Amino acid sequence: HTYNIAVIAGDGIGPEVLAEGVKVLKEVAALDGTFQFSFTHFPWSSAYYLKTGKMMPDDGIDQLRPFDAIFLGAVGSPDVPNSVTSRDLLIRIRHDFDQYINLRPVKLLKGAPCPLADVKREDIDMTFVRENSEGEYAGSGAWLYKDQPNEVVIQNGVFSRKGCERVIRYAYELARKEHKTLTNISKGNALNYSMVFWDQIFAEVGKEYPDVKTYSLLVDAASMFMVKNPKRFQIIVTSNLFGDILTDLGAAIAGGMGLAAGANLNPEKKFPSMFEPIHGSAPDIAGQGKANPLATVWSASQMLDFLGYPQWGKKLIAIIEDLLVEKKVLTPDLGGTATTSQVGDEVVRKLEET
Ligand code: NAI
Ligand code: MG
Repeated sequence: HTYNIAVIAGDGIGPEVLAEGVKVLKEVAALDGTFQFSFTHFPWSSAYYLKTGKMMPDDGIDQLRPFDAIFLGAVGSPDVPNSVTSRDLLIRIRHDFDQYINLRPVKLLKGAPCPLADVKREDIDMTFVRENSEGEYAGSGAWLYKDQPNEVVIQNGVFSRKGCERVIRYAYELARKEHKTLTNISKGNALNYSMVFWDQIFAEVGKEYPDVKTYSLLVDAASMFMVKNPKRFQIIVTSNLFGDILTDLGAAIAGGMGLAAGANLNPEKKFPSMFEPIHGSAPDIAGQGKANPLATVWSASQMLDFLGYPQWGKKLIAIIEDLLVEKKVLTPDLGGTATTSQVGDEVVRKLEET
């Protein structure tokens, strides 16, 4: 079988880390022998925008539709407003392909740095199920009386019954399958429509999962506990905005941005899903060979899980852990002196060794 993968490397360190991700996936397919990857590169980026006035062509979504998956680096540049790079490409793809699950592992691998005192490595092992299609990122709102003294802006949070139910159900299913607890993170005390509704649906869907042990936390308390007592979290379900913020906190306690991956899933596989490191284009280190490609390798591992090769997904995580423990071939963010491509080569070498 051949999997067709659309590669959107993007800006800054995006192309640097994606090159390593592609290298690793090719090696996995070569070693497996039962499938292969065919990669098609799309130049959509800030540079493309500066040339054409668009982040992607008008039929960009149609061009991506036939692919089995999308592998994305990062978009963002000091020369283009972030609202454009992100809304017109990333958020557009997530929305149009109904990638309503954002799955973000927060797991402290052996050898990975952690800024928390008194924490055991096994205590940081959680999975965020972040709502990825609506909420505060739905793009709904109004800008009234622009530039007048009574100027007002309104940013709506959009929460549909269907949208809440499907992400909450996904999280319950995952908790059931993995025999883990499920924590609902919301803010019903202050967001008196959206989060009251969300909590209500969490309770409703939960009736079908009496076997799953649940907890509910307000987002502010949850952010404190992620630092003070991360052990209490296993599977977490939360809204788009809260999930965005909490998963950066998660990255910080589990090895840093250079190790954090995220999958944007359309679980029904009606449309392609998208796999990406969660970091941005890092203009401060772009073009210097300093970018850590391991977050991208981790997202490649999520792609392999999703395509039905969890044994290869696990293998890649084990190799990342080996690199972290050995501390010989790591990029500067993890205290090493290796370049981006040396780290990718080392992952490939370890794959060949097994
Ligand atoms: P960033 O994630 O690009 O960088 C934050 C810090 O982490 C920087 O010091 C950077 O050097 C470091 N860093 C990030 N990834 C790294 C890696 N793989 N290896 C080593 N160090 C790494 O976030 P920032 O600076 O807020 O945003 C830069 C640009 O990226 C902006 O234009 C932003 O809009 C865009 N962005 C794009 C995202 C995406 O495409 N998914 C996500 C986040 C930001
Ligand atoms: Mg983010």
